[in-house]
Amino acid sequence: MTTTRAIRDNYSRVATAYDGVWADTLALHAKAVADRLPLTDARRVAELGCGPGRLLPHLADRAPQATVIGADLTEAMLQRAPAAYGRVVADVQALPFADGVLDAVVMPFVLFHLPDLPLGLSEVRRVLRTGGSFAAVTWSTHDPHPAYDVWVRVIEDFGAPPDPSPQMPSGAVTADPEALGQAVRTAGFGEVRITPEPFRHQSGWQQFIEHSKVVGSMARRLELLAPERRTACLTVAARELSQLDAEDFVESGNILYTTAVAGSNE
Ligand SMILES: C[S@@+](CC[C@H](N)C(=O)[O-])C[C@H]1O[C@@H](n2cnc3c(N)ncnc32)[C@H](O)[C@@H]1O
Repeated sequence: MTTTRAIRDNYSRVATAYDGVWADTLALHAKAVADRLPLTDARRVAELGCGPGRLLPHLADRAPQATVIGADLTEAMLQRAPAAYGRVVADVQALPFADGVLDAVVMPFVLFHLPDLPLGLSEVRRVLRTGGSFAAVTWSTHDPHPAYDVWVRVIEDFGAPPDPSPQMPSGAVTADPEALGQAVRTAGFGEVRITPEPFRHQSGWQQFIEHSKVVGSMARRLELLAPERRTACLTVAARELSQLDAEDFVESGNILYTTAVAGSNE
């Protein structure tokens, strides 16, 4: 199975859980990075990898003259986006748009998924007009997260096999401001600005389990256990996690806000 197909299959399975738990948390950052772009006079603005489309109404507010488009690889995610906006099933690495038709592109929490990051970025550059603006958010550093450590240890103690479909083929590049900046410049962007910003998400232990057993690498590993073994594993995880303190469930670290201008010189 190609990586892109594995990513689409994964998001098709987790769309409901993603929409319920993650979308609002990530939207705070999607809005904050979009607010760094000059959108007032824009005529066509797209969120590529828009998922359930939380950012689209905000883009419409910030770009009142623009047609706002959401595109995503995964139909099950895109179906959750508001129908008031243009919705297109598309792979960022082969965009179905003509050259230079967009004034701005926003990509929160997507670039790390691209198996071919240079191709994806050059497609984004191609569909932007020269002088058009680009923004992205990517994961960078992670603080210690005791609840996650317990979750991993228990699942590994039960002998779960490795993750069959890792989902972040470009994660090492997009987590590193130097490497990411180089990739964005190489694709034909200038005025590249990358700033680390704090990320924080807190859940309770039941919410942590409900979410973690569906979404993420450990959920995929858990699914490979035989049903009785999986149930036993979840029972042990619940017992251990329910003993932890509230702050052990805080997920925090830095994410990177990237902005750039298509085809301009530094
Ligand atoms: C972590 S979600 C982010 C969704 C949304 N941007 C947000 O901030 O809530 C990643 C999204 O990127 C989409 N995606 C992954 N690879 C893609 C690709 N090659 N082309 C288009 N979308 C892609 C997934 O289907 C998923 O909806």
